[in-house]
Amino acid sequence: MNSAKSGRSMRNPASKLFSRSICTLALLSLAASPLGAKEGVDDLEPTGTYSVYQTDAAQTPPMGWNPWNAFRTDVDEAKIRGSAEALVDNGLAQLGYRYVNIDDGWALQRKADGTLKIRDTMFPSAKVEGYPNGTFVPFTDFVHGLGLKAGLYTDIGRNTCAQYHDAKSPNLPVGTMAERQVGSLGHAEQDMKAIFGTWNFDYVKIDACGVADYAPGTEPVESGRFAVFPPYIVRGDIPKSNPDAVEALYAQLGSAIKEWGGPDAVLSICAWGEALSPRWGHKQGNLWRTSPDIEFNWDSMLRNIDSAVYRTLYAGPGHWNDPDMLAIGHGDFDENHLTEARAHMSMWAIMASPLLLGYDLRHSPQELLDIVGNREVIAIDQDPAGNQGVAYRDGEAMVVVRTLSGPGSRAVAFFNRGDEPVSATVNWTQLGFAPDTDASMRDVWSHETLSPASGAITVKLGAREAKLFRIKGTPLDPDAVWLDEMPARINVAADGLGNHSLPDGWTPARVAAAPDGGPLAAGKTTFDKGIGLFASSRLELRTDGEFGRFTARPAVAEGAVPVQFQIYADKKLVAETKVVAGQIGAIDADVTGAKIVELVTRAGGTEQRGPMVAWANAKLQR
Ligand code: GLA
Repeated sequence: MNSAKSGRSMRNPASKLFSRSICTLALLSLAASPLGAKEGVDDLEPTGTYSVYQTDAAQTPPMGWNPWNAFRTDVDEAKIRGSAEALVDNGLAQLGYRYVNIDDGWALQRKADGTLKIRDTMFPSAKVEGYPNGTFVPFTDFVHGLGLKAGLYTDIGRNTCAQYHDAKSPNLPVGTMAERQVGSLGHAEQDMKAIFGTWNFDYVKIDACGVADYAPGTEPVESGRFAVFPPYIVRGDIPKSNPDAVEALYAQLGSAIKEWGGPDAVLSICAWGEALSPRWGHKQGNLWRTSPDIEFNWDSMLRNIDSAVYRTLYAGPGHWNDPDMLAIGHGDFDENHLTEARAHMSMWAIMASPLLLGYDLRHSPQELLDIVGNREVIAIDQDPAGNQGVAYRDGEAMVVVRTLSGPGSRAVAFFNRGDEPVSATVNWTQLGFAPDTDASMRDVWSHETLSPASGAITVKLGAREAKLFRIKGTPLDPDAVWLDEMPARINVAADGLGNHSLPDGWTPARVAAAPDGGPLAAGKTTFDKGIGLFASSRLELRTDGEFGRFTARPAVAEGAVPVQFQIYADKKLVAETKVVAGQIGAIDADVTGAKIVELVTRAGGTEQRGPMVAWANAKLQR
């Protein structure tokens, strides 16, 4: 077990702790450190800050196009330029699709001086006299000239994913073993300097196969073609993985990106939900994958939805859950499956997910352009408040409620996961509306205003159908905001789990439900609103001086020891209470003018994880 101190330094490595001079040393010691570090008790101390990855980038979920789902490594500059032009010509760029990203396959070699050589047969414009390794400047100039932004790809390890998973591709790095090490391990500064400082990219996607797939005993290593890397990621196996080491590599790249890319550079973490990345991604990058690669079938999309849909508390401006790029245009989501394509788009929009198109835009059927280019759906995805929706599931029916900016503004997705018709209902409590009030509704797919509703809305859904509504109603209390309605302003700073993993289907911290998916509860009492999580934990609320009071019913679902619930306003303790299992307390704190309010739970004991607790009915009063 790591000491509290080293556990903490690995969690906040953004800049100083990972200065260039010590990073090699730090990495060596990380590699050697025992697995399963426990979150230090220090993580519970209030910081008075909002400790997410802080830049100006990705204030709404990134939108754009990536060639991977269309071409894998069989990609070339003409296809990418053609797609960039198509984005402009078909109007998608105007709607916000602005990042044109290059994925795996572009790197030919790492030269002896550590610089990267571009595959100029793939990117002919990179061949410029005086640049023996080639340069991407003509390409990024072209993309920028269209009014778009450009992205590139690398890996935290020595080798990329295609080198393992697309081993027969003709477009893989060539040369000696060392020359084929085109991943950024040991080259964080140099590569980020090249990508952002020299080539002028705006976005980088950083994959993780280099620390996952080149383990002792694997074919690429045994065949002598690749150097062994003790895996930091064993897929699906946290005890055998080293989450701290993976996080540290991304942190190191993050500081290099801030240095060379400035505040507008986007860091996309691509560790497929492994190594606990969905629990620390918000501290280290602008978006982080929550799942394996999307495949072009319905079940794969459901799996990716489930990986992100309950992680509402982790998303907000500048940091987004990423259930992967859109599969629209392929397989179950092509022009012959418009119901499925609309459902896919509806769910990504309600989850505030990045919208990265991945089909050949040079030849797009109009029906697909109408789906990915639906202005009203995009407006929901890009709503500036940045709240991810809160999901409720009833069998195959799913309802996701997203609080939009503007009083009483909501979006609701009604989604049928299955192949039989279902009905789905959302009620006024879930919407946060006052009883007996009417709400106006608009169907953003049919572009129709529907007749007003009151109390609840029930819709019928055909097989695999989603409906997406924008709803405007009367808030329950015009002077109060329930935490359920402001997830984008809540940061899970310490989830109480250290490096322990949870059973499938559990979420470390959830809105309107306990981590196990059951109701927020203590004894026989349940609550419709609030946050369910574990003790010992700490949440940071970005209150920005707008509120006067915080009230909640602190509840403890289980455990043998009393749990201390504490409220801090700008680091000052303003209220606390102790609650035992099965009981519900009350807390009422003066938070007048506080910029950051912190909600801390402390449980003694030495269990692997603390008890499930809740900040039930938690709200901020103006
Ligand atoms: C991984 C990523 C994909 C893609 C490929 C490239 O599988 O998850 O999105 O970038 O690598 O090889």
